[in-house]
Amino acid sequence: MSSNPTSDLTALIRTIPDFPKPGIQFRDITTLLADGDGLRDLTAALAEIARPLDPDLIVGIEARGFILGAALALSIGKGFVPVRKKGKLPGKTVGIDYVLEYGTDRLEMHEGQVPQGSRVLLVDDLIATGGTANAAAQLLREQGAIVLMALFAIDLPALGGIAALEADGVAARAIMT
Ligand code: PRP
Ligand code: ADE
Repeated sequence: MSSNPTSDLTALIRTIPDFPKPGIQFRDITTLLADGDGLRDLTAALAEIARPLDPDLIVGIEARGFILGAALALSIGKGFVPVRKKGKLPGKTVGIDYVLEYGTDRLEMHEGQVPQGSRVLLVDDLIATGGTANAAAQLLREQGAIVLMALFAIDLPALGGIAALEADGVAARAIMT
């Protein structure tokens, strides 16, 4: 890893104004993913937090959580389980409805893929309000999993997502703000 990895990583993320709608400052990680050193250093930073927790499984949230979650799982030698938006998984699913800024959505996972009592680490690229990660954590708990931590590349602290997760008893950390 380079000597000042977090600031180096932050510089690789670009902010695109007014995407996907006016007023949103979209934090785009594709520029970081396209940089080999950046992807390696971000994966290493995630692994440094994940390894001591010794999770049984990494659970990633669609879509960008698949990229970082799979990289992390490979890096620490654990399996990966996807939590997907509704209607995408082919097997029997369990799911949870959650509230968005406008309307509701649904997250799903394959039934039985996270065994009762398994210790899981939840991963996504970014936490904003925390609504998505909170729903995923609740779904995992409903399946009998122990959510060791929710881990993100980026936190938008003004939106209070990490505080909301922790208020619900889910430890949460991010590499960058
Ligand atoms: C983004 C991000 C998180 C979520 C965070 O996903 O990857 O999953 O928003 O927002 P929240 O903390 O307010 O819930 P998005 O819904 O844009 O989906 P995508 O990854 O499929 O593009
Ligand atoms: N998901 C929610 N808010 C976001 C933002 N500002 N940038 C990227 N993804 C997001």
